[in-house]
Amino acid sequence: MAEKEHIAVLLDEKRVFKPSKEFVEKTNVKKWMDKHGIKTYDELLKKAEDYEWFWGEVSKEVVNWIEPPRKILEWNPPYANWFVGAKYNIVHDALDRHAKGDKKDKIAYIFEGEPGDTRKITYGELYKEVNKLANALKKLGIKKGDRVSIYLPMIPELPIAMLACAKIGAIHSVVFSGFSALALRERINDCEAKAVITCDSFYRRGKKVPLKKQTDEALEDAPSVEHVIVYRRTGDEIPWDEKRDLWWHEIIKDMSDECETETMDANDPLFFLYTSGTTGKPKGVIHCHGGYAVGTAVTLKWVFDIKDDDIYWCAADIGWITGHSYIVYAPLILGATSIIYEGAPNYPNPDRWWEIIEKYKVTILYTSPTSIRLFMRYGEEWVKKHDLNSIRLLGSVGEPINPEAWIWYYTHIGGKKCQIMDTWWQTETGQFCITPLPITPLKPGSATKPFPGVSADVYDNEGKSIKNAGGNLVLTHPWPAMLKGLYKADERYRQTYWSRFKNTYLAGDVARKDDDGYFWIQGRADDVLNVSGHRIGNSEVESALVSHEKVAEAAVIGKPHELKGESIVAFVVLKKDVEPSDELKKELREHVAKQMGKIARPDEIWFVADVPKTRSGKIMRRLIRAKVLGQGTGDTSTLANPDAIKELEKAK
Ligand code: WTA
Repeated sequence: MAEKEHIAVLLDEKRVFKPSKEFVEKTNVKKWMDKHGIKTYDELLKKAEDYEWFWGEVSKEVVNWIEPPRKILEWNPPYANWFVGAKYNIVHDALDRHAKGDKKDKIAYIFEGEPGDTRKITYGELYKEVNKLANALKKLGIKKGDRVSIYLPMIPELPIAMLACAKIGAIHSVVFSGFSALALRERINDCEAKAVITCDSFYRRGKKVPLKKQTDEALEDAPSVEHVIVYRRTGDEIPWDEKRDLWWHEIIKDMSDECETETMDANDPLFFLYTSGTTGKPKGVIHCHGGYAVGTAVTLKWVFDIKDDDIYWCAADIGWITGHSYIVYAPLILGATSIIYEGAPNYPNPDRWWEIIEKYKVTILYTSPTSIRLFMRYGEEWVKKHDLNSIRLLGSVGEPINPEAWIWYYTHIGGKKCQIMDTWWQTETGQFCITPLPITPLKPGSATKPFPGVSADVYDNEGKSIKNAGGNLVLTHPWPAMLKGLYKADERYRQTYWSRFKNTYLAGDVARKDDDGYFWIQGRADDVLNVSGHRIGNSEVESALVSHEKVAEAAVIGKPHELKGESIVAFVVLKKDVEPSDELKKELREHVAKQMGKIARPDEIWFVADVPKTRSGKIMRRLIRAKVLGQGTGDTSTLANPDAIKELEKAK
């Protein structure tokens, strides 16, 4: 049967993929269920509705408090305090405990650089490196509560820098290395970072990306920064400011490899991570030591079933939440061995990933639908060159996985023997929220059910729970790794997530729940794009365009894209007397890349005379999108400028 027909049949059949009994028996979650006399998956979900009992109980499996909590949860909507009164530091569980115990010589990270250089770092070695840097940071005057921006690529120094900050109680703010100097500047200034940690440059697709140069550009206007710590990755010549810049290797040279871990409150901030929202300014999502440790470690232990001999590879970038939670903190807490790969997935050839899996005998692979679609396009030949038999479990994150990609992943990467964990979650949730467990029967394209102890639902606009129809995805009870607000933006926090339904978290996604209670995530409900699994605010791209001297106004929409999920389409109104041209389109695309980073570069730019707006001046992106996709635009009488719709047809 041809692959396409095969998929159609599978979808028609609504086939359910059940894990084998033998596999289920050996899972971490099943063992926990046995210990607690829980027989079935449904019973587990039911039992975990006693949220405080559940999270209190499972926390014992993954964290060791310095002082135990007085109370599991204190819920003063919209702020939750988990593990109230506990004294803790996540580094204690992620590192200190292993380095002093039987995992000292176990490998924490296997690093593979793009040019092919490799390093293996044990827990004992990681501990020493973190301590040396932590001592150096202290010597520079960085204290508990200070913010440090980290602008590093996928090299082991990125987790080392994060852990060093956390160890001394400083708050890290990692900025994705694919972001531009200006995006970095905005994030540094928002959190008023005292120091920035970066590197000279790094390898990407055979070229070198000049991070230090970009950092310097960001720092042209970032008054809070006193020190820049530079790790030498490539040995490139770089600009240097004697008063401000310090080499990583020099400042750690004379430092002790022991450093006391600062005792924190479980609810003290661990990091900020900026994410896109519906306004032009990124939001600084706050996560804390205690609840975040429990939420991420328990979910990883159960969903990806991490065992002592696994070689686990989460192929995301640490610059995003997926990497924070599931490359750095949770795997380290579980004492796992993880892969860190520096480069592009298809460099030098489209089988680089398969080569890595074969080389290190990776057992668990966690990636995004956009990467799967990229590999699908290259074809199975590249996969077949390698033995991927070591893989026992697969994962997906970032966007809805289309059933074609699901089946391809299942067949060609998993050899039809591995369950796929389609994990739905967000920067804000910190941990998986809707996700299968390895014991869950799967339906391709569905993230299945909420993780035990997480309460999700689909509401209509009146706040009524609905089935078999698209509605607002909500979380109706706090969960441990839940964000602790947005940095310096309480009102925005309340407005964005909590104003729509009382004491209920609005995720901003559209979803449908079927008769079996399975969730089917359909995409964002708000004006946020999802390009290759990354969140980009429409209005951020618009402000980037409008910051160009020749642009008067811009409206940005997402259009379905085979590979990237969504592509960015911009409608641009030029200033008076500016001539439209193809060169100008190119210039504008580069301008956005410079302002925000390459991932935000528009795929298409169209020049128009006007863009449709409401009377209050809000750009009607939904209408533009409907028009572009050839759907009906409905009633346009509320527009301030109904003719603008017709103008779109004349776009050049
Ligand atoms: C989308 C990434 C469908 C969703 C962890 C969410 C998904 C946004 C899935 C968060 C999934 C993430 N199925 N959609 N399995 N996982 N999303 O903050 O729209 O970068 O709101 O966190 O990605 O993106 P973020």
